[in-house]
Amino acid sequence: MSTLDSLKAELLAAVQGAADAAALDAARVAALGKKGRLTELMKGLGSLDGEARKNQGQALNQIRQALEAALEARKSELDAAALDRRLATERIDVTLPARPDGRGRIHPLSQCAEEVTAIFGEMGFTVVDGPEIESDFNNFTALNMPLHHPSRDMQDSFYFEGKTPGTVAEEALVMLRTHTSNAQVRTMLKQKPPIRIVNTGRVFRRDYDATHAPMFHQIEGLVVDEKTHMGHLKGCLLEFCRAYFEVDDVSLQFRPSYFPFTEPSAEVDIGYSAKGGEMRFGGTEKWLEILGCGMVHPNVLRICGIDPERYQGFAFGMGLERITMLKYGIPDLRLMFESDVRWLRHYGFMPLDVPSLVGGLGQ
Ligand code: PHE
Repeated sequence: MSTLDSLKAELLAAVQGAADAAALDAARVAALGKKGRLTELMKGLGSLDGEARKNQGQALNQIRQALEAALEARKSELDAAALDRRLATERIDVTLPARPDGRGRIHPLSQCAEEVTAIFGEMGFTVVDGPEIESDFNNFTALNMPLHHPSRDMQDSFYFEGKTPGTVAEEALVMLRTHTSNAQVRTMLKQKPPIRIVNTGRVFRRDYDATHAPMFHQIEGLVVDEKTHMGHLKGCLLEFCRAYFEVDDVSLQFRPSYFPFTEPSAEVDIGYSAKGGEMRFGGTEKWLEILGCGMVHPNVLRICGIDPERYQGFAFGMGLERITMLKYGIPDLRLMFESDVRWLRHYGFMPLDVPSLVGGLGQ
């Protein structure tokens, strides 16, 4: 083997044997650096002449090219190995539970709103939103409650200062909505039947004791179509209660009642029995009121631009606090609004357990 051949072999071996980036660079400098062995030989070319210089030059160039290719190849190998090592150490197991243990809890009322929306969503209802600050027209007038209707009493409703009945024109009255029924009006004013909507949200009334709060939540439902009748209303609410309270043989009692915006109107009671202080849904031993409902009053349809000769509808409104307390055995309404973390930790829900009919509602 000529001297050049063995030099080439030696330099290539140093490159290929380099264990890391630093060793690889050292091998490069030793061969091609300013004082590298190949560089030194190149410098010596000047002292050769003619043919010898040409041959030696070519041979050295070949070695340089081979070295450069080897350097490049070894560099990619080392880079790939480094990346593999990094990926191995940075791997995370996404199936492990979150750490530290999640502390946040979903408030039972939010859970309830999710549950009822999931149930009505499955039935084909669309979710709409309604504002909490509402005109007196959308909250009362359009719902067949004209100016002197007793439920507009200032004793019961929160009007805005300077916008109370008797001080400004009817159109300028502004208030906190007293029920979610404003969502009915808003929907009918802008949408043609068939209509199938639900709306959940806050409502406000001047009330405060163990079972009433000045702010509470409701869910409103409205269906308007050409052949809608009371049977549809009953079937819909029965199906809802079966799904929500998770009892197959739920019993409901429709008690004749009165709302200005529905005719006929009913209040619905759910049957239960109580043994040893524990409530069991089903049966007809005891009854508890859970919601108000009825067939949409023709006046309401007319005011909202829907022809009552052609369309009928049903509507219902339900207090979310009431059905949350019933389902989860929460005794006092007021604690719901006290933001006590101990209470929330006890009654709250895990954020990732999103309710659905397929995946399951609350525990
Ligand atoms: N808005 C009524 C209330 O708040 C409930 C209701 C809604 C009754 C729809 C009938 C139809 O008491």
